[in-house]
Amino acid sequence: MSYNHSRRLFLGRTLAASAVSAAGILTYSGATHADKVAVEKLYYGPKPGIAKLNANENPFGPSPDAIKAMTEAISTGGAYYAYPAAMKLLDMLGEYYGLERENISLSAGSSPVLSFAAMAAASKGTILGPDLFWDTTSSVPLKQGGPEIKRVPNTADLDIDLDALYQAIDEDVAMVHVCNPNNPTGKTLDPIKLKEFCIKASKKTLVLVDEAYNELIDDPVKNSMVPLIKQGHNVIVARTFSKIYGLAGLRVGYMLGAPEKIEWINRYGLGTYTINQAGLAAAIASFNDQSFIKFSRDKISEAKGIILDAVKANGLSALPSSTNFVFVDLGKNGDANAFRMAMAKENILIRGQYRTYQNWSRVSAGRIADVKRYADAIPKALEFMQRST
Ligand SMILES: Cc1ncc(COP(=O)(O)O)c(C=O)c1O
Repeated sequence: MSYNHSRRLFLGRTLAASAVSAAGILTYSGATHADKVAVEKLYYGPKPGIAKLNANENPFGPSPDAIKAMTEAISTGGAYYAYPAAMKLLDMLGEYYGLERENISLSAGSSPVLSFAAMAAASKGTILGPDLFWDTTSSVPLKQGGPEIKRVPNTADLDIDLDALYQAIDEDVAMVHVCNPNNPTGKTLDPIKLKEFCIKASKKTLVLVDEAYNELIDDPVKNSMVPLIKQGHNVIVARTFSKIYGLAGLRVGYMLGAPEKIEWINRYGLGTYTINQAGLAAAIASFNDQSFIKFSRDKISEAKGIILDAVKANGLSALPSSTNFVFVDLGKNGDANAFRMAMAKENILIRGQYRTYQNWSRVSAGRIADVKRYADAIPKALEFMQRST
């Protein structure tokens, strides 16, 4: 049975059952037409007809084993706090990375631990980052009256300029934030250069490497900065189950670092209390599932191929992507907001303009049928964009 097929069978049954209890309007037995309608009205994913390509979710997950584990975990453990499962996941991660429980902080997705790290850093000074990166969590302190992120321009190729970042570290910088691969560019840094940077920069300040998309790189292990933690460098690394494992809605992520750094970050929130039994069950069942990881990676690659072919066929170009999204150059007079609006008219959701990068548009490698719709809609969206600029 293919992943998709078994997944749908399982999901169909599970969702029908949960529709009953959530809505409280249907009887438990039998999947009727009414069940189907109720299921379609639930808000547990994109509504029918919507191509959701705006948030870098991986629609090829959860894996069948994760779905089975979640179903069991909900019925036996839904009434209980998830502490034992959290410890189990910590031990699995610890064993894999050669680290201890004290080196790891779990949270509901990596966003909470990333935000706690930002709050901790902002209590001491400024956060330094490139102009273009996933700045959502390092912007949290600003919302509480903290300092603005200190930014360094990206290179002409939209890479993170590690030399410039290093030069910008002064005594006020409490943390430098690097996303590798980066979002929204999808680009990966040379691992040797990044390692050199981390070692050098961490002598001056704390270095945070956000590796949310690491498992999508061709050689994830070579590109990870986690080994620097064991070597005693002042580096922390964030990882997530939201991307390659397709568990964005189940919310499991973590931060790795020296015990005193993890303890310092944990003062800003109770990460472990934010995770839930179902998410943990899915993460535990998925972490070592190499065949699902391969399946997921292959499907994402197929979806990216469709996007890249269409981009080229329409006379556009895109950055090379090591992630599950593509950063498309709409050309000299391109307007990412107008392009997004045109796509939205077709019920295709993508991202609009980032900062001052008006001609750059990000699209996620979502379901195959959805990226095909995106591909087919490009000419019409370009025409709309040109008319409106
Ligand atoms: C670079 C990067 N880091 C972290 C996250 C946060 O993901 P999550 O909170 O689901 O782990 C995202 C989400 O898209 C991301 O792009």
